[in-house]
Amino acid sequence: MASGQLSREEALACVGCRHACHILLYADTEAQLFEEIPIRHIVLMQMRFDGLLGFPGGLVDPSEESLEEGLSRELWEELGFSLSVTLEDHVSSCHNPSSSSSHLITHFYARRMEEKEIREVEKAAASTATDHGHEVMGMVRLPLYTLKGGEGGLPSFLSHSFIGNSRSQLEDSLVRFGLVTPEELQTALTHAEQRRK
Ligand code: GTP
Ligand code: MN
Ligand code: MN
Ligand code: MN
Ligand code: MN
Ligand code: MN
Repeated sequence: MASGQLSREEALACVGCRHACHILLYADTEAQLFEEIPIRHIVLMQMRFDGLLGFPGGLVDPSEESLEEGLSRELWEELGFSLSVTLEDHVSSCHNPSSSSSHLITHFYARRMEEKEIREVEKAAASTATDHGHEVMGMVRLPLYTLKGGEGGLPSFLSHSFIGNSRSQLEDSLVRFGLVTPEELQTALTHAEQRRK
């Protein structure tokens, strides 16, 4: 396991740790940009109240509810969509040492959906979700392609600012779930790095 990674069980055994659970929702799509460039997959992130990009989800107190129940509750608040998260959706748990007294463990989940369902999530998130316009400024789809010149699309997206370790959760997932190839990600990261300078 990569540094900071631990199992869900080890994470829950941590005394005094705080827990945050977030999820990547994605779907396959036949859609094309400009009737030419395959979009391939719909991947959702959100623009947070603090101007940073992150995944839907939030803080969970395991003494009050399970991690998955807590994540489902957060999704109801932030997406206005009822999604029952299960153990099978769990991807990784990561320890984030901090200067404050209580360390934060970030639990990451992923769920593959149908394009139709993702559209329903987007609709609800922009209308009935209680946190819309407050904690969540809007859901965004990621561009997974790279446009001519090597800057447009994924490289530009990756040069934005992300909350916590959501950027590494994203990079790991893109390859893990076959949403881009390792080579595509590496190229995009190189261009993103140049843009940030
Ligand atoms: P409140 O309802 O205001 O408590 O917010 P929340 O419960 O929705 O919590 P939030 O989603 O902001 O997540 C809690 C903490 O987890 C944040 O302060 C970040 O440090 C971290 N965090 C937020 N989003 C992500 C994410 O997508 N990935 C990771 N790894 N950490 C995140
Ligand atoms: Mn247009
Ligand atoms: Mn929340
Ligand atoms: Mn949240
Ligand atoms: Mn919350
Ligand atoms: Mn809240």
